[in-house]
Parts: sequence; structure tokens; C-alpha cells
Amino acid sequence: MANDKVSIHGAWASRWVFILAATGSAVGLGNIWKFPYMTGVYGGGAFVVMYLICIALVGVPIMLAETLIGRRGRQSPVNAMKSLAIEAGASRHWSLAALMGMVAALLILSFYSVVAGWSLEYILGMGSGRFEGISGEGAGAAFGGLTGDPWRLTLWHTLFMFLTALVIARGVVAGLERSLRIMMPLLFVLLLVLLGYSLTTGYFRQGFDFLFHFDPSKVQGGILAAMGHAFFTLSVGVGSIMVYGAYMPKNASIGGTVMAVGLLDTLVALTAGLALFPIVFAAGLEPGAGPGLMFVTLPIAFGNIAFGQVMGLVFFILVAVAAWSSSISMLEPAVAYFVERSGRSRAQVTAVLALLCWVVGMGTVLSFNVGAEAKFFVFGEEGFRLFQWGAEGGKTFFDSIDYLTSRILLPLGGLAFALFAGWVLSREALREELAAKSPLLFNLALWLIRVVAPIGVLVVFVAELSK
Ligand code: TRP
Repeated sequence: MANDKVSIHGAWASRWVFILAATGSAVGLGNIWKFPYMTGVYGGGAFVVMYLICIALVGVPIMLAETLIGRRGRQSPVNAMKSLAIEAGASRHWSLAALMGMVAALLILSFYSVVAGWSLEYILGMGSGRFEGISGEGAGAAFGGLTGDPWRLTLWHTLFMFLTALVIARGVVAGLERSLRIMMPLLFVLLLVLLGYSLTTGYFRQGFDFLFHFDPSKVQGGILAAMGHAFFTLSVGVGSIMVYGAYMPKNASIGGTVMAVGLLDTLVALTAGLALFPIVFAAGLEPGAGPGLMFVTLPIAFGNIAFGQVMGLVFFILVAVAAWSSSISMLEPAVAYFVERSGRSRAQVTAVLALLCWVVGMGTVLSFNVGAEAKFFVFGEEGFRLFQWGAEGGKTFFDSIDYLTSRILLPLGGLAFALFAGWVLSREALREELAAKSPLLFNLALWLIRVVAPIGVLVVFVAELSK
């Protein structure tokens, strides 16, 4: 059956715009904040190698699966999977995977917006010279002051959520495509400026060695983390890429396009690492600082090296833009779905959903200050409790949502998408969508989607839960 459906939401002008959009989704806090600090924590080169393997064997195949489901279905992920399942004579309940993904994406957006909001405050801080000559203590206090102040967090969270909703409300072409055409080139220019600067610090060699020095003894500790990060950084497992696939032109080759997105995302992560570690070393700081690397260590570094203030400003604008082009992809699957379902305007649907995410995000805002003692998933002396105020163990609201999404919902969603594309869709459908240049490439893609990626996810998932 030929695929001649069209999306009611609009379509990208070309496959390049799909690449822009999918790369915009993929490149975000995951690349600039998480990847460098995880590399620092898990020992440099060993982590980088495992991460690259996970991207190639699991991340890219799942992205391939999502893109082709989306393009074949031409609807929001939920309806695309439903109609394709019915066409294939399979259970319509496959669409539950997309429904779960949609919810997961909204949950991720709820906390992503809070963290992205921090970068807005730091743009202001760098711009006003507040970090000039700052000490380690001062930078720690500045960050603590921000996260400890629910009002300030709420302000930035609200602003960031508003910016996200603004783009989505204007639609696929006038909103997403138009802003991505500006955001993405800007992002690459800012990143190159930063890289150029770090080449002048005199510590480039040290940063390079840290990132690429392979220490086999460190491989084991980071495997699970590397796999989880591969999912997060490529935005797969929730339908973000699927919904972007639904807007992709019919005649574009999916294989090459998805490879390009995977490569670009990896390139940005590595470049961010190469740009940041020399700056950290130049200021005489430690690379293994963990999550505080971006908001505490880097401001110290920027505050104490030549031209650091300007470069710090460039850096936090980069972070905010990257986060923005990612956050829109978390909202789009649900907006597309409810527009299809309710027939209401995109603006109305966007406003309601953004408000909902904003409310859930307030839980994250409060989990850093007045609600820090609210603990969920507590395994204490009296057994398991879902919620307990002031419990010793357990997770804060923010940690709970982060854990639930990245460790459970993303892998499950990715698994379902790969199985659906690989085993439910017909071979003819796959052949048509992938339009591979040779039978060998087609079989390779098929084998990765059907077998390698699902096994990879399952192994890591089981290992994670039994920890
Ligand atoms: N990939 C983005 C990053 O690295 C985050 C992101 C966007 C995402 N959309 C997603 C993560 C969907 C999981 C699911 O920052």
C-alpha cells in the first residue's frame, strides 16, 4: 500500500528541516550539561566509548523506528500507532505505548523547564558581571541562593514554559520551522565560539586527554548510565522524534537522515566536552564535580579567566537556546494528539497543556526548597511507603519524576516502538519507508530494529531494576 497520507498539522519544507528539528530536539541540556558531567564522574574516555556504542546500536535504531512510524502514520504518535496497528491487523492497544510516551514527555518537560530556567538566571548573572572574580564559595552560595528561593525559580520556570508554548502555539511551519531555522545555526555558532576560546586557554590538550583517555578499569561502572543517557540525549522513547517524522516529506531517505541526526548530536556532545574541560582546567578546578559542573564550577571558571564574563554569557545563551529547541519537542506529541482528538485550536490546546506541565513543574520547584523533605518511593525500616514527609531515604519530587521517566518510561517506550516497527509493520511498509540503497543496508537496519535494540534495552532495563 503506498503511503500518501498527509498530516493536518503541516509539513517541513524539506528533509533538512527534519534534521534541524530532530537535532534541535536531541541537542539540549543532555549534551551540554549532563554529558560533560557524566563523563567527569564516570572517568572520561571509558564512558565516552560506551556511550558511542549505545548510540549506534540502540539509540539510532530506535530513532529510525520512531521516524518511520511517524512518517507512515502522518498523525500524532498515539493516532499514528493506532491506525498503523489496525492496518496491519494487530491490536490497537499498541497505541498505549505512544500514550505512555506522551505522558512521559510532558513529565520531562515539567522539570526540564525548571532547570532550563536556571540558565536564564545565569544569562542575567553573566551579563551583569556578578560572577567577576567569584570564589568557589561565592559560586556555591549563588547557586544555593537560586535553588533555595521558590519565587525566583517560579519566575524563570514560568518564563521558560511560556517561551516553549509560544513556539508550539504558532504551529509546525510558522512556529517550529521558523524558530528552528534561527535557533540551530545560532547554537552551532555559539558552540564554535566557545570551542575557539577554549583552544586559547592553553589547557586544550589536558581537556582532550581527559575526554578521550581510555581506562578499561572504569568501563563497568558506567554501562547503565551510558545507555540511559543515549536514550535521553537522542530524545527517543517518548514520541518526540515520531511526531517530527510525521511532518517529514515523503521522498526523503530516512536512514541517511537519522544517521545525520545521531552524528550531529554526538558531535555537539563531544564538542561541548572539548570546549568546557579546558576552561575548567584553566581555572584549576576538578572535572568530576557532578551535576554542579555547569552551575557552580563553570561560573567560577568563567569568573576567573580572561574574557570569562563574555564567554560565560555566550555559554548560557547557548544552553538556553539548546534547551528551548528541545522543550518544544516534548510538548508537540500531546498538542498534536489533542488537536486531532478535540478539534480545538492549537493555541487553546497548547495553553491548557503548558499550564498542566507548569503546575507539575511547581512540584520540582518546591522540591529544592520548602518541599525538600517531601519524599516519595521510600524504602525504610517499616517497608515501602509511597510518600513520607522527612524520611531518611526516598526521592524528592524532582528525583522521582526524573527516575520514573529516564529509567523506566523511556526504555519501555523505546522497546515498544522498536518492536512495533520491526515486527508489526509489514516488510513492504518498512522497505518503502526506509528506501534503503541496497538489500544489505535494509537487512542491517531491520536486524538492528528487530533484535539488537530490543535486547540492548531489555538487558539494561533488567539490570537497572535489579540493582
Ligand atoms: N534530548 C534532549 C537533551 O538532550 C532532551 C529531550 C528532548 C528529551 N526531548 C526529549 C529527552 C524526549 C527525552 C525524551 O537535552
